[in-house]
Amino acid sequence: MSFPWAEHYEPKHPVMKWVDERLPLPRLVFNAVGAGYPVPRNLNYFWNFGVLAGLALTIQLVTGIVLAMHYAASAGVAFDSVEHIMRDVNSGWLLRYAHANGASFFFIVVYIHIFRGIYYSSYKAPREMVWLLGVVIFLLMMATAFMGYVLPWGQMSFWGAQVITNLFSAIPLIGDTLHTWLLGGFAPGDAALNRFFSLHYLLPFVIAGVIIMHIWALHIPGSSTHFITGCLGS
Ligand code: HEM
Repeated sequence: MSFPWAEHYEPKHPVMKWVDERLPLPRLVFNAVGAGYPVPRNLNYFWNFGVLAGLALTIQLVTGIVLAMHYAASAGVAFDSVEHIMRDVNSGWLLRYAHANGASFFFIVVYIHIFRGIYYSSYKAPREMVWLLGVVIFLLMMATAFMGYVLPWGQMSFWGAQVITNLFSAIPLIGDTLHTWLLGGFAPGDAALNRFFSLHYLLPFVIAGVIIMHIWALHIPGSSTHFITGCLGS
């Protein structure tokens, strides 16, 4: 379950003992991310970008949840509800811009994180699972960002939805059927907008779950050092 050099979890407080015997959740968390986790002392600043990506996701979640309180996912009123957020909701413009530009910064941070991984060979054994989970996170991020872009339901959103979903129609045999199924119709409309909103709300939480596994998998071998030769370990 946990890495061999982890400190043994021993609850001291009676309440924690009581909890641990019935639901060993604190033990699980302690073993996965717990104290005694050694980190190479020669990591450089590029190793900050994983945590920064986590911060970016948190900002997106907080601003997104508040935006959703004022947004209406219906083709007839979606655009107006975004105008309402910009003009009438207190600091609504700030929330919206923080969320939209925050998404761009999230990608910038994650690209630096990925290129750090490529440059320092972080994807190699024994961290393949960390990398694979990272790829899953990245695919989910792209899907989430695309569906968010559609929500304001302006011209750019509508044609963005049209063009991107049309890519699926290039798949031989099933392409056209798949395209219609994805949109819930022959063109982007109410059905597409509703499911995109639903998934745009859901997927960031799925991403958060995959991030937990990403960090869990990382904490088995621990972070790599930035010696490319690996002379001080992998
Ligand atoms: C929301 C997105 C992500 C979050 C929150 C996240 C979080 C983290 C954190 C906190 C670490 C440990 C600190 C660090 O080394 O920077 C880490 C390490 C790592 N991540 Fe990510 N990550 C994300 C996306 C990705 C993606 C897309 C990839 C690659 C496809 C990736 C690959 C890696 C690898 C290989 C490591 C190990 C680095 C090493 O020890 O050298 N991550 N991640």
